[in-house]
Amino acid sequence: MDIGIKEQDRKAIAEGLSHLLADTYSLYLKTHYFHWNVTGPMFNTLHLMFETQYNELWLATDLIAERIRSLDVFAPGTYSQFAELSSIKESAGVPKANDMIAELVAGHEAVCRTARSVFPASDKASDEATADLLTQRLQLHEKTAWMLRSLLEK
Ligand SMILES: [Fe+2]
Repeated sequence: MDIGIKEQDRKAIAEGLSHLLADTYSLYLKTHYFHWNVTGPMFNTLHLMFETQYNELWLATDLIAERIRSLDVFAPGTYSQFAELSSIKESAGVPKANDMIAELVAGHEAVCRTARSVFPASDKASDEATADLLTQRLQLHEKTAWMLRSLLEK
């Protein structure tokens, strides 16, 4: 295979993307979990908002995994691999609605940091396709973090 990116660089980029995939999957699952279990006066708003968000995250996992495959590296996809690769921790029990929102803000910010950390590897190899995907993911996560953060204003 020769797409103009050295094998060593492809592996380094795929390694970074594997962390992004694990973070995105973990945040997907957390958001769906909150969609099922949210309670309180904000139920309808949050139930629907979380649904929009988990659907977007679910679609993103496929784009990230298939970018890893385009670099000719296998994508992680088991719970044990995701637990090892993810920077996002599982929720303890069922949080109150406001705590769910705060946890999701922290989760989206964590994915931002993970996505940003992959740029040095993609820049080094002039991998604009990965940089483009990272940029789109950053825009989404920064925007979603802002929207969720806004719900917590008193
Ligand atoms: Fe549902």
